[in-house]
Amino acid sequence: MMHSLIVFASGKGSNAQAIIDYFRNTGKASVSLIVSNKPDAGVLDIARREQIPHLVIDRQMFQQEAFAKQLQAYKPSLIVLAGFLWKVPDQLIAAFRNRIINIHPALLPDFGGKGMYGAHVHTAVIQAGRKESGITIHYVDEVYDNGDIILQARCKIDEGDNPDQLAARIHQLEHFYFPRTIEFLLNQLQ
Ligand code: GRF
Repeated sequence: MMHSLIVFASGKGSNAQAIIDYFRNTGKASVSLIVSNKPDAGVLDIARREQIPHLVIDRQMFQQEAFAKQLQAYKPSLIVLAGFLWKVPDQLIAAFRNRIINIHPALLPDFGGKGMYGAHVHTAVIQAGRKESGITIHYVDEVYDNGDIILQARCKIDEGDNPDQLAARIHQLEHFYFPRTIEFLLNQLQ
């Protein structure tokens, strides 16, 4: 069965690209729609290059029931938040209960919640003097960065690491584990 994935992203889209590449020509899954809240997001360049349908939304549209129906038309097995900075409205969570997953660039429950994204996270982890960081892939529920954890992967923080160096190590973990975790979840949905 070919699973349909919908990807939401606000930024560069390197995770979206990793997912597209991982499932390419596998006959297992494909990204059927890319949604962004940023008209100039790099992820939309990826959508155009990969000829994947894409949508730019505003906050008003995001809240509407009609939007959930529009997504349902793509029959997504999973909705994948890959660096999407808006909180998912409750009606969308209800429409896709336990079908929305998110990746966070730290080891939740630490260093999560509002404002904890991108370099802010890595700076906070380093300033807290932690010796390791990592990624958390979790289900999305009504509370920010709170849903059941699906997978965590860790990396060391070396003495003198700056946020960019930590971010690069975290991205490597993301690009390896996010597609494989999605595959694991899809296998359970067969
Ligand atoms: C990733 O670090 C992810 O953990 C976070 O947002 C970032 C997205 O990066 N949620 P990209 O747009 O996939 O390159």
